[in-house]
Amino acid sequence: MTTENKKQAAAEGALDYIQVGDVIGIGTGTTTNYFIDALARIKGKIDGAVASSEVSAKRLKTHGIQVLDLNSVSSLPLYIDGADEATRHRYLIKGGGGALTREKIVADVSEKFICIADDTKLVEILGAFPLPIEVIPMARSHVARQLVKLGGIPELREGFITDNGNLILDIYNLEILNPVEKERELNNIAGIVTVGIFALRPADLLIIGSESGLEFIQ
Ligand code: 5RP
Repeated sequence: MTTENKKQAAAEGALDYIQVGDVIGIGTGTTTNYFIDALARIKGKIDGAVASSEVSAKRLKTHGIQVLDLNSVSSLPLYIDGADEATRHRYLIKGGGGALTREKIVADVSEKFICIADDTKLVEILGAFPLPIEVIPMARSHVARQLVKLGGIPELREGFITDNGNLILDIYNLEILNPVEKERELNNIAGIVTVGIFALRPADLLIIGSESGLEFIQ
């Protein structure tokens, strides 16, 4: 079984959680793309979707799924998205696709956040994947210096601008032993818009695709 097969299996597994009339939050990335394609088969069941990126919005619209502005919905029963790393405590690193800010907003609004991933994403400790951080352009050097003081090695994601017009710094060499504390600490650095640690609002359920089938972690 390939990694792509595992991603697709996890994505298909999330379909069971959709209720008639739901508006669904939709993340970004290759695993989420499998979910969007699967959602298209049952699109008559839902009232629309809120997308965490322009790319996902485009894919949803291509399938004829109505994309709603988050400001026009009062609640979001379900949010489906992938991750770059996930622990069994359901803490995540996200932002490999650069959509972390909108992803964090949609996750915060949603009543249930289901993270779909293949088993290569499951880790003991977050941080082997370089931590994406969205920064205001004028604060790029300041934020980088602060991260160096914390032991990180920041690298500017070259040629990449987020949907919000900001930059991404990818931080290498951070071992994130206490994700909640680290998310709070980094959130306090002036110029950081969003840090890719999802611990203050973790996933409610992980659906992990593996060789032996789906694993559900809650
Ligand atoms: C995008 C994300 C993605 O969920 C994460 O990068 C995983 O992507 P993929 O499903 O392609 O492995 O956080 O900002």
